[in-house]
Amino acid sequence: MKFNETINIANFATKRKVDLKSLVIYYSKTGNTKLIAEAIASEVNADLFEIQRQKDIKSSGFMLYFRGGFESMTRKNIRLEKKEIDLEKYDLVFLGTPVWAWRLNPVVRSFLKKVKIENKKIGLFACCAGSAEGVLADLKNTLKKNTILGESEYVEPLKKNTEALVKEARKWAKDIQQKAGK
Ligand SMILES: Cc1cc2nc3c(=O)[nH]c(=O)nc-3n(C[C@H](O)[C@H](O)[C@H](O)COP(=O)(O)O)c2cc1C
Repeated sequence: MKFNETINIANFATKRKVDLKSLVIYYSKTGNTKLIAEAIASEVNADLFEIQRQKDIKSSGFMLYFRGGFESMTRKNIRLEKKEIDLEKYDLVFLGTPVWAWRLNPVVRSFLKKVKIENKKIGLFACCAGSAEGVLADLKNTLKKNTILGESEYVEPLKKNTEALVKEARKWAKDIQQKAGK
């Protein structure tokens, strides 16, 4: 193989990674998942899609936990803002959610009932106060018609270790992008 051919192959490999179209879909009530979603999107040059509910829970603190926890435990179907989403354009999809009452957040659950995600490469992330293990397992199962490339969780990134957790999310996203390009 000649020297020039080697360079061409190297260029092709780099170009493939750049050409990979990525989307970050997320819901966030108090900003943690939004922070991580935006870090991921800027790292891998992805588009952002924020899932929004028609009627927000206005409460905060205990009342938010109470009302949100109830919605989550009863798997309430939440009405979502009507927003166009064209998944056809994307090869790689990152999906982010907060944990609510040990379960997948009901807004994200309602979104996944409406929008079928299939045959994509997927990176999953979740924000929580304790552990997101069960939620990530639930998401993997819900999205089993896709290739799950990895998952990550972040404990209250707005409250503590913000810089380190954002850095961790960026690194994770880059790794997922590289896996997706192979
Ligand atoms: C209604 C409600 C229920 C929650 N339940 C849990 C839980 O079961 N386990 C957990 O680790 N964190 C729980 N949390 C904490 C959130 O997952 C955490 O604050 C997360 O960072 C919020 O993400 P967001 O700021 O993007 O909305 C709960 C928060 C709310 C509002």
